[in-house]
Amino acid sequence: MTITAPASERTERTAQPLTALMCRPTHFTVSYRINPWMHPDEATDTARAVSQWEELRRAFVRLGFAVHEIDPAPGLPDMVFAANGGLVVDGIAYTASFTHPERQPEGALYADWFRASGLNVVEARHINEGEGDLLTVGDVILAGTGFRTSLDSHREIAEVFGREVVSLRLVRDDFYHLDTALAVLDDRAGQEHIAYLPSAFDDASRAELERRYPDAILVDEHDAAVFGLNAVSDGLHVVTAARATTFQHQLREAGYEPIGVDLTELLLAGGGAKCCTLALRADTLNPREA
Ligand code: ARG
Repeated sequence: MTITAPASERTERTAQPLTALMCRPTHFTVSYRINPWMHPDEATDTARAVSQWEELRRAFVRLGFAVHEIDPAPGLPDMVFAANGGLVVDGIAYTASFTHPERQPEGALYADWFRASGLNVVEARHINEGEGDLLTVGDVILAGTGFRTSLDSHREIAEVFGREVVSLRLVRDDFYHLDTALAVLDDRAGQEHIAYLPSAFDDASRAELERRYPDAILVDEHDAAVFGLNAVSDGLHVVTAARATTFQHQLREAGYEPIGVDLTELLLAGGGAKCCTLALRADTLNPREA
């Protein structure tokens, strides 16, 4: 009798620890509203945000990630969402240029950090919110648009990185950044694997995702709404929202080891694990910390 191996036995999952940039939420609060999750009239608890963020940071360190930190700046409560600080691939740091005036000053602070770290900084000419909308998978960059990052920046990115950029249109304002609606699980060329929420995309983008990633994990509304897709994967371990339980089951079935974290305080600003994490894809970084 022949037994077909389950998916988890067919694909070998291997961990490639990330080098990541994070920003402590010392000044976290919700004082303006630039996405539907944000309610400036409701209380936030900065100490709780910090302790949840520290739990995330510890999870990364346990996985062997090299975690760098940028100093948080007063008056920039969303600076904790480091993913939006730029796009760093092949040692090139393409700077963020934020949509909303409230976050615009963050762009220069992240750019300064990239410069001091010895990265090759390219100043963006067009509106983009970094890895929040720009996800590297295999040789291509998946690029969100619709709410924040502009199509002009997609074209600019293709030139800057010399990579194919696949534009994906987001249509739901509760999933306003690509990294809220799509997670890259395995970014190795030839082994690409993603998860996403189909309803977050327009028809053409959904068709493009189905064509490119026929074995993608489709995540349900509940798990997307607790920001399960705002996940960080090293190719084996997937750090995701603790409450995204069905997604965690799907991940196990596909051979991953999910790690649930509670970032409910940061969700009050519309962010989760991936939002707090900027991957630094560079061979060398100048030593900055003791
Ligand atoms: N309040 C922030 C904003 O609306 C949240 C950013 C979340 N970041 C992300 N990469 N999805 O800009």
